[in-house]
Amino acid sequence: MGVILEAVYNLGMLFYYILEAMVVPWIPIKYRSKDVSGQIALVTGAGGGIGRLIAIGLAKLGCKVVCWDIAKQGMHGSLAFELD
Ligand SMILES: NC(=O)c1ccc[n+]([C@@H]2O[C@H](COP(=O)([O-])OP(=O)(O)OC[C@H]3O[C@@H](n4cnc5c(N)ncnc54)[C@H](O)[C@@H]3O)[C@@H](O)[C@H]2O)c1
Repeated sequence: MGVILEAVYNLGMLFYYILEAMVVPWIPIKYRSKDVSGQIALVTGAGGGIGRLIAIGLAKLGCKVVCWDIAKQGMHGSLAFELD
């Protein structure tokens, strides 16, 4: 019985994801993404790599970005310039 229930569940999930993949692309992106302008975001590891790119991306979306990193080196200079 457990195997049958699991199969039915997996089949249901399969149809759900297929349906989602067909419907979601037709919904305008502004209804699918959250408006973060004016919000405060804390980005850890913002001194370099992915964290730095996320901090810059959030600043471009109008976020007030609090940057956090253990390495002081990456936190000054170009990051501050790019966030301005
Ligand atoms: N680069 C990739 O393709 C990739 C893919 C999957 C997962 N990741 C993971 O994502 C994370 C970031 O990757 P990355 O490539 O940007 O790394 P990175 O080394 O370029 O940058 C990490 C930053 O985090 C800072 N950091 C480290 N420990 C910290 C702490 N305790 N508090 C605050 N800041 C701290 C570092 O000083 C550095 O500036 C890593 O955990 C990595 O394993 C990276």
